[in-house]
Amino acid sequence: MTLANLQSQPGTKDILPEEAGEWRFVEGTARSVCAQWGFREIRTPVFEATEVFERGVGGATDIVQKEMFTFETHERRITLRPEGTAPVVRAFLEHGMGSQAGQTKLYYLGPMFRYEKPQAGRQRQFHQLGVEVFGAAEPGADADVILLGLEFLKRIGITTTSLLLNSIGDATCRPGYLQKLRDYYRDRLPRLCEDCQRRYGRNVLRLLDCKQENCQREGEKAPRYVDSLCDACATHYEEVKRLLSGLGISFREESRLVRGLDYYNRTVFEVTSGALGAQDALFGGGRYDGLVETLGGPATPGVGWAAGIERALLVRKKIGLAAGKDDVQVYISPLGTTAEGKAFEIAGLFRAAGISTEVEYRRRSLKAQLRSANDLGARVSVILGDRELAEGVAAVKRMEGEGKGQETVPLGQLVEVVKKQLGGEQ
Ligand code: HAM
Repeated sequence: MTLANLQSQPGTKDILPEEAGEWRFVEGTARSVCAQWGFREIRTPVFEATEVFERGVGGATDIVQKEMFTFETHERRITLRPEGTAPVVRAFLEHGMGSQAGQTKLYYLGPMFRYEKPQAGRQRQFHQLGVEVFGAAEPGADADVILLGLEFLKRIGITTTSLLLNSIGDATCRPGYLQKLRDYYRDRLPRLCEDCQRRYGRNVLRLLDCKQENCQREGEKAPRYVDSLCDACATHYEEVKRLLSGLGISFREESRLVRGLDYYNRTVFEVTSGALGAQDALFGGGRYDGLVETLGGPATPGVGWAAGIERALLVRKKIGLAAGKDDVQVYISPLGTTAEGKAFEIAGLFRAAGISTEVEYRRRSLKAQLRSANDLGARVSVILGDRELAEGVAAVKRMEGEGKGQETVPLGQLVEVVKKQLGGEQ
């Protein structure tokens, strides 16, 4: 491998220190909102036996057919997780979590991997926040997870979104609807894209959400699933809508919303942002009442969603919310050999008081050191000279604002004085 090849892989990104604060804010908000809703965290491995996804996500889906990173190992085929729901169900079963009484509510945060063509908002390694509820078939669970997702977005400052809603029925009404779709598309097939022609046989539902212009035009008058729902599914759907309306959540019914994973039944939803481009879904999910059984467990209803963290960060940046770099608060400039040792001691006092503090290691001129303090965004510089130290004092220099200037402060009062200068920052 030549050095030129030693670059990050297409569709992957380094998260640099300048951006890490944004990540921590969004992830921290996600954790606190989920905890307030009574969801507990689960962390599953980043790779699983390939069958978890083949069976869970579905053999006919794009994810399984062409987007998985799969490896042969000595014992078996393994796959880097392209999504979190199937692994969570695998863990749920493996640890007998379903035998606990009541509903089980779990959330996860972490990297997912899909071999897709990279573009804005679409990466090969991306991060998801996901929530899953097991054990509740009732519409209240659907409405509450949607409410949680919107609250997460609200707390990170994203309020202008659209909630798209649909129902894709269950095993009772699905065969009848699929037949109607096949009948509708049969004569139109030659005018559809290659992908849709391929999907017609095994996955005709997906023809509805093809993004190709021709296919969209051909699908304009396609029968809507909501008109073919059986009574039980229709009632469930009506109740979800009633609950959402009661909570003041507006939504748009979108008959073309079918989602790209096979495990869904009844409610499906997506939240999109106009601030994003073609890849505009901030989170998407739905009900998956058959998945636990598909993966070998007892019949257990489930509902959840996952949000793309990168996309949430993109929206924050677009609407001017992205926070700047993490600034250090205090910068200590030691001038002289005695001061060098003392600098760490004094830094320790600041840090113990909860003030982020940087010590200059390099023996440089005061001017150069103050330039560094400025570049780091430090609010206050503490200048330690051997002579001043001998007198038990140090110079405290405010780097910005009205009080910009320098004062001499006894060492014993340094923390107190600097704290006052930092004001309400801490
Ligand atoms: P999904 O729609 O495939 O659903 O992905 C959920 C979200 O992950 C998307 O709305 C998007 O924000 C983000 N996302 C997906 N692919 C990429 C990518 N290549 N690059 C960047 N962001 C991406 C699921 O994964 C389901 N497991 C959700 C779920 C949970 N359903 C029920 N429970």
